[in-house]
Amino acid sequence: MKKILITGAIGQIGSEITVVLRKIYGEENVIATDIRMPSDLQLRDSGPFEFLDVTDEHHITRVMQQYKIDTIYHMAAILSAIGETRPGIAWQVNMGGLYNMLEAARQYKCKMFFPSSIGAFGPSTPMDCTPQLTIMRPETMYGVTKLSGELLSDYYFKKFGVDTRSVRFPGLISYETEPGGGTTDYAVEIFFEAIKHASYTCYLRNDCSLDMMYMPDAVKALIDLMEADSSKLANRNAYNVTAMHFTPEILAAEIRKHIPEFKISYSVDPVRQAIADSWPNSMDDSAARSEWNWKPNYDQAAMVNDMIVKIRQKIK
Ligand code: SER
Repeated sequence: MKKILITGAIGQIGSEITVVLRKIYGEENVIATDIRMPSDLQLRDSGPFEFLDVTDEHHITRVMQQYKIDTIYHMAAILSAIGETRPGIAWQVNMGGLYNMLEAARQYKCKMFFPSSIGAFGPSTPMDCTPQLTIMRPETMYGVTKLSGELLSDYYFKKFGVDTRSVRFPGLISYETEPGGGTTDYAVEIFFEAIKHASYTCYLRNDCSLDMMYMPDAVKALIDLMEADSSKLANRNAYNVTAMHFTPEILAAEIRKHIPEFKISYSVDPVRQAIADSWPNSMDDSAARSEWNWKPNYDQAAMVNDMIVKIRQKIK
């Protein structure tokens, strides 16, 4: 039986994979950790929870030994917009934390996943149908840590045989937990504001295209990749994965099919707009499709419909 450690378990992805992994592998086999205590009762009471700061290597060792961990989902990270205001902290958490977890994976012979991002690309990357292997010169601290993280994960695989795996997630859309401090957060906020107030002021330009994915597909990508046959993973750190790409204007039009009175206006934040301008308009994820059968279930229409139904239930 697997013994799984999740870091950043209270974050946007962590909170959802904790629940799913506990269902698949058994509640007592999935140890959720974070630097915050969970307020979500389901997360707190459905299995072991530990306070864990990923920049503290001694504490990591204690938790690894206590639970005899063999699989790590390292989700703790600082997102792109916060990374630009606090680059030192972003480096410390994203790089220092990843180094510590890779060292733990090496020492305790674990399989390990860490999420890379569309943020690993930069302004000189081809923006449309961005290839798996291409120019990568990110200009944000977040992007620098994600690209360095991909290289470091490959290094641990080649040098020490650690079974590292990763995907370049696009913007992730979910209704359970807010992302917080990212550039793609508008695609979550817009739903809550549309349902509560029928209006939203967007901090990105109306025509700014970015890759996106609904959270159930992100969870599926993560689990499918971790279950895939290791010998087939030629591009293991990290795979382009996407499900859809749209602009704020296109998303607003899709929301209007459900909430006809919805209005969007724009007040562009130059920092987040510059970050978004340096990321792809749409990625080519054919390597993931051919090497481990990646295929999303939700397109734009299905995602928008489900988000609206679920948020209405949630805030009733
Ligand atoms: N969603 C992330 C961000 O906007 C990108 O990986 O920072």
